[in-house]
Amino acid sequence: MVLLLPHILLLTCSLGLAKAAITSGCGKQATNVGLTTPFNVTSSNASRNFLVHVPLGYDNHHQYPVVLAFHGNTETAAELELDTRLSDPKWSPSASLPSLPCLGFKLMVYPNGINASWAGASYSNSTISQDLQFVSDVLSDLSSNFCIDSNKIYATGFSNGGGFVDILACSGNSVGAKFAAFVAASGAYYQEALYNSTYQCVPAKSPTPIAFIHGLNDSDVFYDGGDGEGGFLPAVPAVVDSWVSRNRCGNLSTADSYNGTVHISSWTCDGVDGALEHYREADMGHVWASQQQTFSQLVIGEGPTKLEANDVIMKFFDKFSLDKESNWGRFTINWNGGDRH
Ligand SMILES: *[C@@H]1O[C@H](CO)[C@@H](O)[C@H](O)[C@H]1NC(C)=O
Ligand SMILES: *[C@@H]1O[C@H](CO)[C@@H](O)[C@H](O)[C@H]1NC(C)=O
Ligand SMILES: *[C@@H]1O[C@H](CO)[C@@H](O)[C@H](O)[C@H]1NC(C)=O
Ligand SMILES: *[C@@H]1O[C@H](CO)[C@@H](O)[C@H](O)[C@H]1NC(C)=O
Ligand SMILES: *[C@@H]1O[C@H](CO)[C@@H](O)[C@H](O)[C@H]1NC(C)=O
Ligand SMILES: *[C@@H]1O[C@H](CO)[C@@H](O)[C@H](O)[C@H]1NC(C)=O
Ligand SMILES: *[C@@H]1O[C@H](CO)[C@@H](O)[C@H](O)[C@H]1NC(C)=O
Ligand SMILES: *[C@@H]1O[C@H](CO)[C@@H](O)[C@H](O)[C@H]1NC(C)=O
Repeated sequence: MVLLLPHILLLTCSLGLAKAAITSGCGKQATNVGLTTPFNVTSSNASRNFLVHVPLGYDNHHQYPVVLAFHGNTETAAELELDTRLSDPKWSPSASLPSLPCLGFKLMVYPNGINASWAGASYSNSTISQDLQFVSDVLSDLSSNFCIDSNKIYATGFSNGGGFVDILACSGNSVGAKFAAFVAASGAYYQEALYNSTYQCVPAKSPTPIAFIHGLNDSDVFYDGGDGEGGFLPAVPAVVDSWVSRNRCGNLSTADSYNGTVHISSWTCDGVDGALEHYREADMGHVWASQQQTFSQLVIGEGPTKLEANDVIMKFFDKFSLDKESNWGRFTINWNGGDRH
C-alpha cells in the first residue's frame, strides 16, 4: 500500500519542514482514541462545549493537524459530524499509516454554538467577539489535552457555520491568524454585507487560503443573494470577489466537469497557486455535498451530489500550513473528465 504512494508526497514528507512548538498536550494519554467525545470550556463566562474525534492509532508524541467544523443554524455538532462523515478515516486517515504523518491524520473538532447558532446572523444568540473567544478557548484546551501541530489548524463549516468560517478568516487580528486555511460550504455570509461599512474584514495575511463550495439551487442561502433567514445575504460571487481583492488574486483558471454541471474556479493569489477556489454545482441545494447520500440531502429530497465536499476540503487543507506556502497546484480533486480553460 505504502509503495503505491506518489513519490512527490514521500519527498515532501521527508523534507522535514520546521515543526511547530510542542504543545503541553504532547505526551498526555488520550483515553478516547478512535471515538468522538464531548469537552467543556468556560468562555466569556459561559459554559461552552465541543466534540473531539481522536483518530485511531493516535500517538501522543506526534503533532496532529486539527480541523474545526462549524455546524449550521439549529444543527448540533453531533449532527454535523454525522451528516458530513468528516471523522471517517477515509477523510482523516489514521490507523493504517501510523508512520506517515504527512498523509493527513487529523484531530476533528466540532464546536457547538450558543443555542445552536453562530454569530453573524440576526438569529444568533452570541456576538462575534464571544464566538471568536470561544474558538480561542477551544484551541487552548486542545493544546493542553492533545499533541497538535499549530501550523496546521483549519476551519470548515456549513451554512451559518460556513458564514462563521468567513468571519474567522476576516479576524486575522485575533484567533483567525491561527488558522492555515478555510473552507466554507453553503455559507451564509451575512456579515460580508457589512464589511467596510460597519467594520472591516482583516485577514491575517495575503493570501489567506480560502475556498467556497456552493449549489446554484440553494433555497436557503441564495447563490445570487437576497433576504435570508438571518439578514441580507450578499451574492456568493461578490463574496468570492472580495477575497480576490483581499488576497491580491489573479491568473484565474476554470474547469467544468460532469457535463458542465460542476464549475471550478481557482486563482493564484500573491504568487500562491490555488489559494482561492470556488466550487459550484448547478443542481445542488442546501446540502452537504457528498457522493454518498447525506441526511441534509434526504431532508430536501435530494440525491447524492457530484461534488464530494470532504475531498475538496481535506485536499485544500493539506496544501497549506502556516510555516510554508504550498505551490502544489490547483484542482486537486478528481473532477471526472473536467476540462481546463
Ligand atoms: C458539559 O456541557 C454539557 C452541555 O452543555 C453539560 O450537559 C454537561 O453537564 C457539561 N459537563 C461538565 C463536566 O461541565
Ligand atoms: C465575567 O464575569 C465577571 C464577574 O461577574 C465580570 O467581571 C466579567 O466582566 C465577565 N467577563 C466577560 C467576558 O463577560
Ligand atoms: C436568541 O435567539 C432567538 C431566536 O432568534 C431569539 O428569539 C431570542 O430573543 C434570542 N435571545 C437572546 C437572549 O438574544
Ligand atoms: C437560548 O435560548 C433560550 C430559550 O429560547 C433563551 O432563554 C436563552 O436566553 C438563550 N440564550 C442566550 C445566551 O441567548
Ligand atoms: C473595503 O476596504 C478595503 C480596505 O480599505 C478596500 O481596499 C476595498 O476597496 C473596500 N471595498 C469596498 C467594496 O468598498
Ligand atoms: C454526461 O452526459 C452523458 C449523456 O447524458 C452521460 O452519458 C454521461 O455519463 C455524463 N457524464 C458525466 C461525467 O456526468
Ligand atoms: C500570475 O502568474 C504570473 C506568472 O506565473 C506570476 O508572476 C504572477 O505573480 C501571478 N499573479 C498573481 C496575482 O499571483
Ligand atoms: C431545486 O430545488 C427545489 C427546491 O428544493 C427542488 O424542488 C427542485 O427539484 C430542485 N431542482 C433541481 C434541478 O434539482
